[in-house]
Amino acid sequence: MAIPDSFIEELVARSDIVDVVSDYVQLTKRSGSNQFGLCPFHSEKTPSFSVSPDKQIYHCFGCGKGGGVISFIMEIENLPFRDAVAFLARRAGMEMPDEEDDGELRGRRSRLLELNRQAARWFYGNLSLPEGAPAVEYIKKRQLSPKTVKSFGLGAAPDDWYALTNEMRRRGYTDQELIDAGLSKRGKNGGSYDVFRNRLMFPVIDVRGSVIGFSGRILGDGEPKYLNTPDTPVFQKSRNLFALNLAKRTKRDMLILAEGNVDVVMLHQAGFDCAVASLGTSLTPDQARLIKHFKDNVVIAYDSDGAGVKAAQRAIGLLEPAGLKVKVLRMEGAKDPDEFIKKKGPEAFELLLERSASHMEYRIEAVKAKYDMDTGDGRLGFLRESIDMLAGNFDPLEAEVYVGRVAREAGVSEETVSEQLRLARRNLAGRRKKDSERRVMRPERAAQPDSKRIRYRNVPSAMAEEGVIKSLIRDPELIKYTKDLEPEDFTADFLGRLYRVIRAKAENHEAVSPAVLLAGLEPDEAAHLTGLLQEPVNLGGAREAMADYIDVIKTEGLKDRGDRDLMAVRENLQKKKGLGG
Ligand code: UTP
Ligand code: MN
Repeated sequence: MAIPDSFIEELVARSDIVDVVSDYVQLTKRSGSNQFGLCPFHSEKTPSFSVSPDKQIYHCFGCGKGGGVISFIMEIENLPFRDAVAFLARRAGMEMPDEEDDGELRGRRSRLLELNRQAARWFYGNLSLPEGAPAVEYIKKRQLSPKTVKSFGLGAAPDDWYALTNEMRRRGYTDQELIDAGLSKRGKNGGSYDVFRNRLMFPVIDVRGSVIGFSGRILGDGEPKYLNTPDTPVFQKSRNLFALNLAKRTKRDMLILAEGNVDVVMLHQAGFDCAVASLGTSLTPDQARLIKHFKDNVVIAYDSDGAGVKAAQRAIGLLEPAGLKVKVLRMEGAKDPDEFIKKKGPEAFELLLERSASHMEYRIEAVKAKYDMDTGDGRLGFLRESIDMLAGNFDPLEAEVYVGRVAREAGVSEETVSEQLRLARRNLAGRRKKDSERRVMRPERAAQPDSKRIRYRNVPSAMAEEGVIKSLIRDPELIKYTKDLEPEDFTADFLGRLYRVIRAKAENHEAVSPAVLLAGLEPDEAAHLTGLLQEPVNLGGAREAMADYIDVIKTEGLKDRGDRDLMAVRENLQKKKGLGG
């Protein structure tokens, strides 16, 4: 099923190109309104990859690649058009059109997002009102600064069963919408009541800046400590991370993964602006991939209790296969990052971060903790398990480093461990080979040729056609001077297609964003168009220029058709000769 234009338009509008590109490219330079970074499509030392926030396009002056936000995802994620659209839709919190029908759902979703946003503001506003006093008190007790409160948009759910529900009803939201957003619940008598009462509210904001849900912490002791928004049409816990909206902008080369919301907030306050947390669930593969979108390194800073250690090991098993380099913090003398920073200060945490054990170190410790190392059996168990672990390690060199460590702990020689490791590797390799033989070979990623040059059939006409397109993108009102020009007059097929789209829009006095136009093009065509759009324009004399362009196109068209008629006559003659001979 084709994806409706209106969907593409909304998707493009909600997927800011700078934002999307920034997930992959650090835009470090600015020139005019363009931002520059190192091109992700070819290797270079100085940035020639430009992104234009105004035009919502990217273009590399080095390799010539270019396009809109959809082409960018197609290129960088190596996805076909439809999948790239789905990828961005997910990112923008939009449902793909044919999964559930049409605009109605989209309307519903955007109302839920707006409802969430208003609720977040209302919670925040409560902090300045008497009903927010207990939350303010609690915020003070946890030593959260006003700046932190503001940047996280923390708020207060008052001690009241109906405060939010009533307020949002008054603003025109239905009980069903409140329930769908996870903010209200249906009571026995059929009425609705507030889910979050007497809690400190943490909005969950996605990377696009939409409030998609909430965590509410009880003020003080009690159960449950946290209440979280359930999965809703706009919120999927397993696909989002708390504070990623802030952490995605960090200058550090890693993300810190903590367990608790308060830990994350405190870490940010202490200058560790790269901290995120999974949302009241254990880490999911989707979250691991999400982290990898932003950084190659992740430091686990879970609670130092038994549950935290276990959760960390599980997390390693998800983060590493996602291609991340994983380290684990060991906080001595504090149960979590929040407490550590309060006790020892940010500098101490910074040191911890620098010295954080690689995950190997941490894993060996964890294996050791499972066995009674004072008995022979215990040490043997430890030895077996650590060797298996080293053998399965993704980085053999790193494994080598830990051979000595394991040997010392188990009280055997390094040679013994090395030998056992070699055997374990061979076993593992054998198993893996069998596995892969069973699997069907996946086609290799097609080599991406540098963007092909567009070959024009009729260069003079195509130049004029480019002129028409360029002018119309700049000023759709110029359409009034192109009455005689038909898409069929274009000799370059893709320029003709663009003209058709622009004209349809312009007749309704609507402008077409380049990003939307680009969505309908092949990569080489898109790259060509972005190249065109980078060229300076001659303002003034637009009307005359347009007349000239059309003149050229018409004249060339005549010539062209003349030539082709001639060709046809010749071909016919040849055929006849052939038959006759
Ligand atoms: P913690 O109990 O460690 O909470 O749970 P915390 O954030 O560190 O809070 P403080 O420091 O005690 O105030 C870690 C995370 O597990 C989820 C929350 O996301 C919490 O931040 N959780 C915990 C729940 O979802 N529900 C609960 O009842 C408890
Ligand atoms: Mn905690």
